[in-house]
Amino acid sequence: MKRFTHALIEKNLILLGVLTLLTVAIGGLVQIVPLFLVETTIERVQGIRPYTPLELMGRNIYVREGCYLCHSQMVRPFRDEAERYGHYSLAAESMYDHPFQWGSKRTGPDLARVGGRYSDDWHAAHLRSPRDLVPASVMPPYAFLDRPLDAEAIRAHLRAQRGVGVPYSDEMVAEAANDLATQATPEADASGFSRRYPNARQAAFDADPKVVTEMDALVAYLQMLGTLVRFSDVTPDQLRQP
Ligand code: HEC
Repeated sequence: MKRFTHALIEKNLILLGVLTLLTVAIGGLVQIVPLFLVETTIERVQGIRPYTPLELMGRNIYVREGCYLCHSQMVRPFRDEAERYGHYSLAAESMYDHPFQWGSKRTGPDLARVGGRYSDDWHAAHLRSPRDLVPASVMPPYAFLDRPLDAEAIRAHLRAQRGVGVPYSDEMVAEAANDLATQATPEADASGFSRRYPNARQAAFDADPKVVTEMDALVAYLQMLGTLVRFSDVTPDQLRQP
């Protein structure tokens, strides 16, 4: 009997086609439907927050200057990469990146975990003239970034990010210009700023606190890359938010 049905299906092209379609459709539904029902496929991780206004402007400069053409921002889960750069990248670490900066070319090293690896002064000096610090470097100099940062549109930038899903609150948008100035001015009162952006560092990133420059923004951005999740004091279970 079993043999008979099998032969029947194999010999009847239309029946075979219909049954194949049915099988593939069930398989597809089982895989695809749950994705519509879960809120997100990215596991939430403790410590991840949206970029501060200054970091966001730095990120825009990073994109504008095409740093992604030579630098990736994704540590792949291989031992050699983890030993060189640190813990492999988590999806949550780029969940607020629009557009993401994973990159596909490494003329220079991966930057996903460069934050805190060098001093602010090192970064500013390196960006101004990479060969002063790394004689064999082929990275171009970016000394022109010492010009004042044009942050007129900072609130619009935050609103645009919110439009694509970054959870900037009304308060964050309203305070954006202040928060930007506060982060680049070490002696400014940072109580509101630190509450809005936990673990954001306040500094005179390019050593001159008087003018907020493009250099300040870019260094602030580089210095926070990969620092939001503290892998050293959490176990894999604690990484997940309750
Ligand atoms: C033409 C390719 C190229 C471009 C474009 C480029 N870089 Fe680099 N970068 C390199 C190379 C090569 C190195 C390694 C040598 C060195 O440290 O200068 C490097 C090193 C670095 C480092 C040090 C990383 C480490 O772990 O030692 C940082 C930070 C960096 N680049 C940031 C940037 C930023 C920000 C931009 C955009 C403004 C940029 N780079 C654009 C090629 C490039």
